[in-house]
Order: sequence, then C-alpha cells, then structure tokens
Amino acid sequence: MTQLLYLSSSPRGSASYSNKIAARVLDALREAHPGASVIERDLSREPLQHLNEDFTAALATPEEHRSPAQKMWIAKADALIDELFAADIVVIGVAMINFSIPSTLKTWIDHISRAGRTFRYNSEGKPQGLLNGKRVIVVHAKGGVYSEEQSRPFDFVTPYLRHVLGFLGMQDVQVIDVEGTVLGEEAVAKALHRGNECAHAVVAQFENAA
Ligand SMILES: Cc1cc2nc3c(=O)[nH]c(=O)nc-3n(C[C@H](O)[C@H](O)[C@H](O)COP(=O)(O)O)c2cc1C
Repeated sequence: MTQLLYLSSSPRGSASYSNKIAARVLDALREAHPGASVIERDLSREPLQHLNEDFTAALATPEEHRSPAQKMWIAKADALIDELFAADIVVIGVAMINFSIPSTLKTWIDHISRAGRTFRYNSEGKPQGLLNGKRVIVVHAKGGVYSEEQSRPFDFVTPYLRHVLGFLGMQDVQVIDVEGTVLGEEAVAKALHRGNECAHAVVAQFENAA
C-alpha cells in the first residue's frame, strides 16, 4: 500500500494557496493510488519546538547517559524520521515567508536531519543521503513573481529545499509554483488555474515514470 506524507506549513490557515493546490495534488495521488494511506502533518497548527541545548547535547550523548529531557527530544525526532522513511511520496506545502521557508518547516527539517540516520559521510568524507527512493512534490506559494530572471535570485525557498532534500537523499523533487498571490484577483485566479493544471500534470508525469 502506498504511503503518503503531507506536510503543510503555511501560517495562513484556510486562506493558504499552497494548501489549496496541495489538496489537488493529494486528490490526484489518491486517484492514482487507490487505498493509499495519508499522514497529514500541519506544521503551522501543531508546530514543533525549536531546537535547544537538550536536543543538541542529546545528539552528542550516548543513549544510556541521556537525561529524561534529552530522551524525549530524540524520541520525538526519531518518530518524525520513522514517519518520513515509511513514506513513498512526500507532499510539502510551503509559503514564502520573508524570501524563505516558514520557520515551522525549517524546524521539521532540523528534527529529521540526523547524521547516521538520514545522512552519513562516506569513507572519502562525502555526504550521502539515506532517504532514497522517495518522490517529493513541493507546492510553493509566494506573493511575488520569481520566475523572471531579475527576481529569481531572491527565491531562497526552491534552491534551499532542493539542496537539503537532495542532501538527505531525496533527489526526485517536483516543484509546483503558485506565484503572484498578492498581486490582485486576476493574478490569483491565474496562479490557481496554473497550479491546478500543474498538480495533475506533475502526478501524471510521476506515474508514467514509475
Ligand atoms: C509574514 C509574511 C511574509 C511574507 N513574505 C513574502 C516574501 O518575502 N516574498 C513574497 O513574495 N511574498 C511574501 N509573503 C506573501 C506570501 O508568500 C503569500 O501570501 C503566499 O500566498 C503564502 O502562501 P500561502 O498562500 O500558502 O499561505 C509573505 C506573507 C506573510 C504573511
């Protein structure tokens, strides 16, 4: 049975366009994988705790010497890592916030990026991602337009996500852009229309390649 993991991160709740288009992606995936099980994790409504000294110290402390607080941190992060390993397809809804990803999504990345579990360094000291064989669909909503040459360098969302996901072994990443969402009704209608079309096209492309 196909396992889907859906992470949403927009702080705008029901007004979110990334959530709207991600819902279309999930519909298309459910259609292509009848009976698929979906785990939804709303990182904005139920945010994870920012990393602190207990967590960073726990990473450097052998299990048997960890304090109760350190054990709690590692258990939480381990559960998130297990959930990610179990997923065949990961859908990430992301809102551009101050040119980058929401801090809630960054905190999830901070929890699941762990040397020895989700990446390691090989004998030549090169990093090797361990989360292999997954397909990832990112739905990225942003107020401005970043598909043009002049503004593209200021989109730090897509390059960062591609880099960190690839570093962890997730190379098969498709990005659906929903852009210009603060530029008025017409721009929003256009962005949503394009986003809906892309949702179906991206899933169809994935299924053909599988
Ligand atoms: C606090 C805040 C910061 C934002 N920063 C940016 C930004 O740097 N660049 C941009 O193009 N849009 C920015 N926006 C607009 C959002 O990217 C836009 O509303 C987008 O649709 C958010 O995704 P969502 O619809 O899934 O919530 C910002 C919005 C908020 C609320």
